[in-house]
Amino acid sequence: MKKPAGLVFLIVSKLVIYSFAKVNLFLKILNKRPDNYHNLDTLFERISLSDRITLSSRKDNLIKIYCNNAQVPLGQDNLCWQAARLLQKKFRPHKGLDIKINKRIPVGAGLGGGSSNAASVLTGLNKFWGLKLSKTKLVKFAVALGSDVPFFIHAIPFAYGLGRGEKIQALPGLNRFRLWHILVVPEKHLSTPLVYREWDAGEQSGRIFSGLTKPAVNVKILTSILAKKNPRFRPGLLFNSLEQVSLRLCPEIKRVKTRLRNQGLENILMSGSGPAVFAIACSGYQARSIAARLKQEGEPGRVFAVSTV
Ligand code: C5P
Repeated sequence: MKKPAGLVFLIVSKLVIYSFAKVNLFLKILNKRPDNYHNLDTLFERISLSDRITLSSRKDNLIKIYCNNAQVPLGQDNLCWQAARLLQKKFRPHKGLDIKINKRIPVGAGLGGGSSNAASVLTGLNKFWGLKLSKTKLVKFAVALGSDVPFFIHAIPFAYGLGRGEKIQALPGLNRFRLWHILVVPEKHLSTPLVYREWDAGEQSGRIFSGLTKPAVNVKILTSILAKKNPRFRPGLLFNSLEQVSLRLCPEIKRVKTRLRNQGLENILMSGSGPAVFAIACSGYQARSIAARLKQEGEPGRVFAVSTV
């Protein structure tokens, strides 16, 4: 009997990957480095909001990006393009690739969407092109693409990010823990380099380090509290050094925080360089019902109920 060659071709010519977002439950800037990056203590959490990425072969050796969101660059600025190019240049110079991004993660929001997409392309191409690269090798490519990319290569729910965020320390004690969140994303985009530059300016003029902008605990204490697996921990433990700066650039963040507080939520924080804001809910039911209420009441930001994945 003849082999169903067409079917085999279909299977190997396309790969679909779900690319998750993150929030930072804790982000403390330790200092500015000579390379202009900042050393951080951060706690990453991977969340269920995701983009869908489809990789498919091309007859030529071009790398083409397609996306349903006009805010995403389609050329060489796109981190997915850069990720594919790194692997193509080194291992498969004659192979071309179409990358289709079905975007649901808001862009420029502090949710790591672009970084996650780049990590998905690296891990996806490792399979698609049969490269057999180890995780350590993939992480090396990831570091070259951006500070948040390595976290997504590790494919774990929680991790510490040290250095500029790229040095990942797994937290096996939290592997089975799941949090629920209401996530609200104001329309405005914030540029990460701009937010860090404003932080530098604030620090130099002594504006940033008032008592209010110091964390109540360090990241290790927060992690040990999370390890007790009770989402109703005392308020004030989540922390983000960049929140004060982003709040000045985007006052919507304050409005969203107040709105979430008015829903009876206590643990509320901006993620990354913002402007996405999340709150910890005590159950999936609470996250979904508050998200539905905010939408019904006409919240202008994008609202999601998400969990750790
Ligand atoms: O690493 P990534 O390309 O995502 O960083 C984007 C920008 O954010 C950097 O160019 C830098 O301005 C700023 N950044 C920083 N310190 C970090 C991470 C990012 O200053 N730890």
